[in-house]
Amino acid sequence: MTTSELSVAATGGLDVRGDFPILEREIAGHRLVYLDSSSTSQKPTAVLDALADFYRNHNANIHRGVYPLAQEADALFEGARERIAAFVNWPAANTIFTKNVTEAINLVAYSWGQTFLGAGDAVLITKMEHHSNIVPWQLATQATGAQLRYLDVGEDGTLSLAQLDAELARGDVKLLALTHVSNVLGTINPVEEIVRRAHGAGALALIDGAQAVPQLPVDLAAIDADFYAWTGHKALGPTGVGVLHARAELLEEMPPFLSGGDMIATVEAQQSTWNALPWKFEAGTSMIAQVVGLGAAVDYLDSLGMAAVHAHERGLTAYALERLSAIDGVRLFGPPAAEDRGAVISFALDGIHPHDVAELLSRSNVCIRASHHCAQPLMRRLGVNATARASFGPYNVAADVDALADAIAHAQEVFAG
Ligand SMILES: Cc1ncc(COP(=O)(O)O)c(C=O)c1O
Repeated sequence: MTTSELSVAATGGLDVRGDFPILEREIAGHRLVYLDSSSTSQKPTAVLDALADFYRNHNANIHRGVYPLAQEADALFEGARERIAAFVNWPAANTIFTKNVTEAINLVAYSWGQTFLGAGDAVLITKMEHHSNIVPWQLATQATGAQLRYLDVGEDGTLSLAQLDAELARGDVKLLALTHVSNVLGTINPVEEIVRRAHGAGALALIDGAQAVPQLPVDLAAIDADFYAWTGHKALGPTGVGVLHARAELLEEMPPFLSGGDMIATVEAQQSTWNALPWKFEAGTSMIAQVVGLGAAVDYLDSLGMAAVHAHERGLTAYALERLSAIDGVRLFGPPAAEDRGAVISFALDGIHPHDVAELLSRSNVCIRASHHCAQPLMRRLGVNATARASFGPYNVAADVDALADAIAHAQEVFAG
């Protein structure tokens, strides 16, 4: 099928395959059916061009140069910060760049957690978290004598607000940390309501927005979380850049996480003072080109409109749920209705290991992931070791869902012998 034939088959309003050069690749005579955007997204030409343009025309280190090139690099880097912060409606001054969302959560767990947690306090997370929002809290609570507790995940893939209230009523929860959108179940958690309840109980709230920012309109002023973290490479940006948005007053009272150049105001022989926000938390040379690339990614997403991205991906998810549930022997995980979930579908095939499913699909260049998806506590809750997972980006079309359904049917035939 040509790109234009595929575009005719698109679900919903977006028709952007032509913006993603990698989708022109064929492997072993099969077109690329990329269904692994929850792992990492493909990159539009606008992002590839911004990266190349930075290195070709503006490359210099930031924050210390007086010559024109250095000033251009500075303006590109800090300009991108402004646009990235505006994209989610948060001030640029308390928008910090890290290398990914994992580092952003570690920043909070080490700097805030190790300073402000203690015996008698609890950190509340959920069983649907990615390991990035579990392990840092294990280390922080172990180091400080605080307790780590979990909200359960119901059979329908949702959290119970009644259990949340019961946990908060215990009076010891100092921080609630949860994902906005599950990378396995697709569940969209009602974070605005959850943060409101956490604040009502005197707890802070951290949201892992790794799967949310790429696919939903996200308004951080409305969500009102104390910390909100996400990762650039899932949002059409390059690898190597993550983002932490946080309340200024918390960042002011938190000690630095990493230290060295750029994050200081003065350095004496025995002690130092810290730079202003956000640079207090950006030690060493920043990921300059990656931030510029992420700036181009949010410009691109803005030009599509996040409401249109969400509608397009929801249409694909609804269609995929319909196609997959019509196949005998397919078990689907997560909320049943597409309106309640992001653009990811975890599934199992009776009698076929998820890794074999992924391998068989890869023979027709249908790229899905099979693993525990860095969510082992959730796998245990679901009673499986792994799932197969298909996930969508703005560049996917209905023909990709058809290719998935056909490849699953073929895998079943191969296994039936
Ligand atoms: C919900 C969620 N949180 C955190 C991460 C970790 O992202 P990164 O490896 O970019 O830090 C992922 C990646 O899959 C994710 O889906």
